[in-house]
Amino acid sequence: MMLEDKVAVVYGAGGAIGSAVARAFASEGARLFLTGHHLAPVEVVAKEVVSAGGSAEAGEVDALDEQAVDRHLRSVTDEAGRVDISFNAIGIPSPRLRVPLVELDVEQFSLPITAYTRSYFVTARLAARRMVANRSGVIMTVTAIPSRTGIPLVGGGGPAMAAVEALTRGLSAELAPQGIRVVGLRPQGMPETARIKESFELYAKASGMTWEQFHELGAARTHPRRLSTLAEMANVAVFMASDQASGMTGTVVNLSLGSLDD
Ligand SMILES: NC(=O)c1ccc[n+]([C@@H]2O[C@H](COP(=O)([O-])OP(=O)(O)OC[C@H]3O[C@@H](n4cnc5c(N)ncnc54)[C@H](OP(=O)(O)O)[C@@H]3O)[C@@H](O)[C@H]2O)c1
Repeated sequence: MMLEDKVAVVYGAGGAIGSAVARAFASEGARLFLTGHHLAPVEVVAKEVVSAGGSAEAGEVDALDEQAVDRHLRSVTDEAGRVDISFNAIGIPSPRLRVPLVELDVEQFSLPITAYTRSYFVTARLAARRMVANRSGVIMTVTAIPSRTGIPLVGGGGPAMAAVEALTRGLSAELAPQGIRVVGLRPQGMPETARIKESFELYAKASGMTWEQFHELGAARTHPRRLSTLAEMANVAVFMASDQASGMTGTVVNLSLGSLDD
């Protein structure tokens, strides 16, 4: 198994990406410490993992709160002795209204930039402080296509994702000499997730298309003419977290199925 006995902490583990990655990590032998803003959805995922024969504990942790993250990591290292993988997949709620940048309130613009950079900074550095002791570990980030290409009506979402990718590279430059890899995943919108269904529906409505037409338009931009799946993203997450990816750090995997050039 690719992650046998690796101790992995997942933030936002009750969400679509967090839960898919948690299941994939567990099926490759990782010991999971799953966290989220609210405990109930995380407990559902942990129970699922345990009933499938894996190891998972659920905890309520606000990934924007440095002290809460620190307390949780202390409890993980007290119990498991170390942290090998930190995977942050939190997602703040998408705005219900799509407002053009020239009309966007400055607070609304700043919100995703502040929240995502803060959460990735806090979770990464607190994990790194533990990983340094073993001179080993993997810190993982999740971003989205607007980090690299202009997409209308995403407000501060594009700058937020670009900042997280820059942080991924900066952390790697500082931590790789100490044996810690920092890597990111940049998935395209996966239509099976509630977040994408909801935001695609808003775009579709605004542009006078049906959800199916909008979905087809997105798929047509990819090389295989389809959108990617959570399972495909989770498989890449497993590889990137594993020692098999020891040659990769300071980089973000492009999971756009060809729709975004490197
Ligand atoms: N879905 C996609 O296809 C896709 C594609 C590319 C990039 N992404 C990006 O990947 C991230 C996750 O997407 P997703 O689809 O998995 O979203 P999701 O299903 O909405 O899950 C997000 C999770 O983050 C949790 N969360 C929010 N704020 C938190 C906080 N302060 N502390 C701890 N947990 C917190 C939420 O918990 P509560 O619900 O309990 O608040 C929720 O469980 C987002 O940044 C998104 O932009 C998603």
